[in-house]
Amino acid sequence: MKVLVTRPLPNEAIEMLKKKFDVTLNAEDRPLTRQELLDGLKGKDGVLCLLTDKMNAEAIGANPQLKIIANYAVGYDNIDVKAATANGIPVSNTPGVLTDATAELAWSLLFSAARRIPESDRFTRDGKFKGWGPMMLLGRGITGKTLGIIGAGRIGAAFALKSKGFNMNVVYYEAAGKNEVLEKELGAKKVDLPELLKNSDFVSIHVPLTPETKHLIGEKELKMMKPTAVLVNTARGPIVDEKALAKALKEKWIFAAGLDVYENEPKIEEELLKLENAVLVPHIGSATVETRTRMATLAAENIIAALENKIPPTCVNPDFAKLKKSK
Ligand code: DGY
Repeated sequence: MKVLVTRPLPNEAIEMLKKKFDVTLNAEDRPLTRQELLDGLKGKDGVLCLLTDKMNAEAIGANPQLKIIANYAVGYDNIDVKAATANGIPVSNTPGVLTDATAELAWSLLFSAARRIPESDRFTRDGKFKGWGPMMLLGRGITGKTLGIIGAGRIGAAFALKSKGFNMNVVYYEAAGKNEVLEKELGAKKVDLPELLKNSDFVSIHVPLTPETKHLIGEKELKMMKPTAVLVNTARGPIVDEKALAKALKEKWIFAAGLDVYENEPKIEEELLKLENAVLVPHIGSATVETRTRMATLAAENIIAALENKIPPTCVNPDFAKLKKSK
């Protein structure tokens, strides 16, 4: 069986795959070009791909021989799951193993934006620190404030639970229903989106990117937020209208934002790059040694299961089996 791995990954996973299959690895640490991806998929039984690889209907339709598409991410908006299911191909992701790493990064961004850490660092290095100042680099306090969580799934809930030490009032917006754990552990209250935006001092986004969540936060929503509020996005860039956010930060509709993800990665809205109240990091939510290793081995476990004719452990389209041809 032949497997394509589209980018160098922690070696444990590559070794697991090499023990069983003929592995083609893109050894260069850069995304494959579209043509390289399409060529690389030809004749492969499985692919371990990344969120930068567009596994759309074209790529899938041209490779119905695939028996597994294993994404190295929990989000899988880069894959046309409908097209995969229609071709009887299971798709897997990496849930669970990156929950804490992503929640930790969301907190890092919240602190960095609220307490102006990157800006203070630049200030210090630029030799502007001339001694303690009563009005120097004032940020926003966190303890006892209202925390608004958009999406109370695995990552949103883990992020919320980590607020315990800060004695916060937690509200959440969740289309899928109540989160009993958050209600019991934190006294959290489920609210609608406008109520969350109007009342929260900190808003953190944890929903997947779908047609329904694209631009969930636009000009109208940003205008509902407090001028003292901080917005954090570690989910997917297109959930926030980036141009509207740049305007909101520039015109001080909100205090600051902490972003890990962007609408058109790796491009970033020019205006955002100029703003001191935008804390910007390059999509590193899951970037810890432990998490990336576990993501890689989980993706490999999914490939091994599928190529051994078993249901992949973290399959997102179990319906694939209904349409599975004799492959
Ligand atoms: C994901 O898993 O969806 C992250 O964005 C990358 O780890």
